[in-house]
Amino acid sequence: MHVELRTPWSIGPVEIPTRLVLAPMAGVSVQAFRRQGRRFGAGLVCSEMVSCAGLSHGNERTLGYLRISAEESPLAVQIFGSDPVVMTEAARMVEDAGADVVDINFGCPVRKVTKTGAGATLLEDPDRACRIVEAVAGAVSVPVTVKMRRGLENGSRACLELGPRLVEAGADTLTLHPRSAQQMYTGEADHSLTAELVERVGVPVIASGDITSRARAQAVLATTGAAAVMVGRAAQGNPWALREILEGEAAEPSREEVVAELLLFMRETVRELGEHRATGFLKKFYGWYLGRGRFPRAFKAELTQLPTLAEVEARLLEEAPGASFVLRRLEQELPAGDEVTLDLPISIYGGG
Ligand SMILES: Cc1cc2nc3c(=O)[nH]c(=O)nc-3n(C[C@H](O)[C@H](O)[C@H](O)COP(=O)(O)O)c2cc1C
Repeated sequence: MHVELRTPWSIGPVEIPTRLVLAPMAGVSVQAFRRQGRRFGAGLVCSEMVSCAGLSHGNERTLGYLRISAEESPLAVQIFGSDPVVMTEAARMVEDAGADVVDINFGCPVRKVTKTGAGATLLEDPDRACRIVEAVAGAVSVPVTVKMRRGLENGSRACLELGPRLVEAGADTLTLHPRSAQQMYTGEADHSLTAELVERVGVPVIASGDITSRARAQAVLATTGAAAVMVGRAAQGNPWALREILEGEAAEPSREEVVAELLLFMRETVRELGEHRATGFLKKFYGWYLGRGRFPRAFKAELTQLPTLAEVEARLLEEAPGASFVLRRLEQELPAGDEVTLDLPISIYGGG
């Protein structure tokens, strides 16, 4: 069945304008990334995973993840943890902060998380997983979604047993990244499991994993019956991939456009994280934006060595002087003001 990527769909009562979802990525999904994703056509954007324990302890850095701007909406904020009571408390904070959806992480394969009984571990602890979803769904009025992997071990089909139970417990949508936790990011996402999950549940399913082109997105939607596709790594430093997937517009951006988007991203990230934290955080983005043959390797390396962001900006503009006009136009087109619904401290985005 052909699915038009530009048609709306819903998570509970929340309308999602397109079938394209920007993936939650630790150490990547800052507000600037999410806002850019919305501008380039993602119908839903997600925060990276936020520790429910950190929220409940009032940890300043963790609270910073709840800085939400109006232009991100619809936005899902993802929480992780293993205790239903603490998860409930965190979910209420997420709702109060203005998120449209509370997403629960049952997919993180990183040991730091799994050893606490959270993330992908919950795929093998179905009773606890259901208790978490039931408690969270009962505590907030926004829709609750779950993002999971196929299981812990290679070849696991745990997600197919667990999925229907999570829906019964109150999940309004499921996202499946059909790799095992053991696989991390190796091998391929097996979307035949996504198709099986769609068959088993009566709620929308989002397909995550290896969606890198319009052709792939359309094939996965058509063969799985998923309601939407989620794009992660392909959008790192490359929002044009979102546009290509949505509209089939495959034109490579000019050097000026690339530099202007990077400069805008840098400026917004400085506003969000502060100059000091943004300086380190942004380094990996230089390679992502300027790679793909857009700029020479040596230039990317040079930028990461520069001590201040002002110097990085100056070097970028030296390399692509026309970018300042593009940037000015972009800034003019942006909605006025950087509205933040909660006056919270600036956070560090560490990963996990
Ligand atoms: C750097 C990085 C960080 C990630 N962090 C999260 C996270 O915080 N929460 C989550 O549910 N998934 C996380 N993921 C998984 C992605 O959301 C997505 O499911 C996965 O990358 C597969 O999609 P892709 O092939 O489009 O990248 C992360 C992936 C990457 C590469």
